[in-house]
Amino acid sequence: MIHFLYPETDFLTAVRRPCRDRKEDMTYQEAYAKLEQIGQTHLLRFYDTLTQEEKDRLLGQIRDTDFSVLKYIGRKDQLQQWTEIAPLPAMELSEIEKGKEAFTRTGLEAIRRGEVAAVLLAGGMGTRLGSDAPKCMYDIGLTRPVYIMQRLMENLQEVTDQAGCLIPFLIMTSDRNHDQTVSFMKKHDYFGYDPSRVIFFRQDMAPAADYEGKVLLEAPSQIALSPNGNGGWFQSMDRAGILASLKKEGVRWLNVFGVDNVLQRIADPCFIGAVISKDCESGAKAVRKANRDEKVGALCLEDGHPAIIEYYEMSDDLLDAVDEKGQPLYNFGVILNYLFRIDALERTLGEDFPTHVVEKKIEHLSEAGELIRPQSPNGYKFEKLMIDQIRSLDSCLPYEVDRRREFAPIKNKTGADSVESARELCRENGIPL
Ligand code: UTP
Repeated sequence: MIHFLYPETDFLTAVRRPCRDRKEDMTYQEAYAKLEQIGQTHLLRFYDTLTQEEKDRLLGQIRDTDFSVLKYIGRKDQLQQWTEIAPLPAMELSEIEKGKEAFTRTGLEAIRRGEVAAVLLAGGMGTRLGSDAPKCMYDIGLTRPVYIMQRLMENLQEVTDQAGCLIPFLIMTSDRNHDQTVSFMKKHDYFGYDPSRVIFFRQDMAPAADYEGKVLLEAPSQIALSPNGNGGWFQSMDRAGILASLKKEGVRWLNVFGVDNVLQRIADPCFIGAVISKDCESGAKAVRKANRDEKVGALCLEDGHPAIIEYYEMSDDLLDAVDEKGQPLYNFGVILNYLFRIDALERTLGEDFPTHVVEKKIEHLSEAGELIRPQSPNGYKFEKLMIDQIRSLDSCLPYEVDRRREFAPIKNKTGADSVESARELCRENGIPL
């Protein structure tokens, strides 16, 4: 079993101040010059009213912010241009059932050799859910507290109990929710997990802009920054020095998953074993589409590489394509639970994935300095997405799961993919609420 120990305080300090990224302070003149080149000097309009500490903070942000994302506004050419699309057959439930014992054994062996780590993507803002706290802190319980994070930790511990060893549990946060997430985990005693196996790292932030491409301020000394999407996780992990440490510890596989599925199976031995047995670089848990038009990204091959085609990008021809048995050919949607071989991901480190320009509601200061809380989208955020990363890999195993047992996403307060629907699925799976 690996001994994977980061004294937490040292680790957090290292992440906050990565030596490689330490930079000199920026003067007002330097900040002005940087902003002038890109037409953003309005960010300094409250400078004279700030305290010294606030001035330093704003100058630090101007120094550290990568404004180059602004160039993507109005540019669709850097996004995926679909060419040669072909089906990517999934390992279906019947095949998994047949190989279950052997796959599970293989997966557990990999876990016991210390080759698997779990990565929770928890840097999102969860705006649709409408809670100010990080999503992982959301309580779906009715007669007792059942936090989203608690559900994840319970599921993880089922596997670590079965394997008889712990696995490194990495949590990606953002500047927006890092402190709250860390305190929450501490307050709840890491839900019984060994804190030395829990590692936090922060994802990168990107500036938000109005429709004219002017970056917004959310306070006189604070640029409106938001997490840069879930596609930058591997780079952020590498920059924080975590990747090197994991490799040194012998970790070869990363199980990466989203925060909001309360039935999420983490480090699922059967899934891991299936991907290893099929000699794939990656695997993606997938659900059979509920109907032709379900709004999920479908797994496919593009120019021979695994890819995920979004529902709105699919032509009628693709939606209607069937195999010789009459089964739809593009019938498996991803649920944000992937297994990646680290050496394959490392090849992608130098690559620049597309930047998605997304219309969102962005709180900001008006010209006069009043805080505006828009009711509808008023500008752009810039995001890298995990689905673009898959295309750089050579192989991916779509691995079917039963959606009623493994897929209970909480995106909205009510309706589809909501707290209500997740509660119903928890009940169905015997989870007391
Ligand atoms: P979503 O696409 O649901 O985004 O994230 P979100 O920010 O959580 O919620 P909305 O869209 O504002 O309502 C899917 C997963 O990716 C993570 C989320 O935490 C969630 O686990 N994510 C998303 C990040 O880690 N970072 C990001 O910048 C965005």
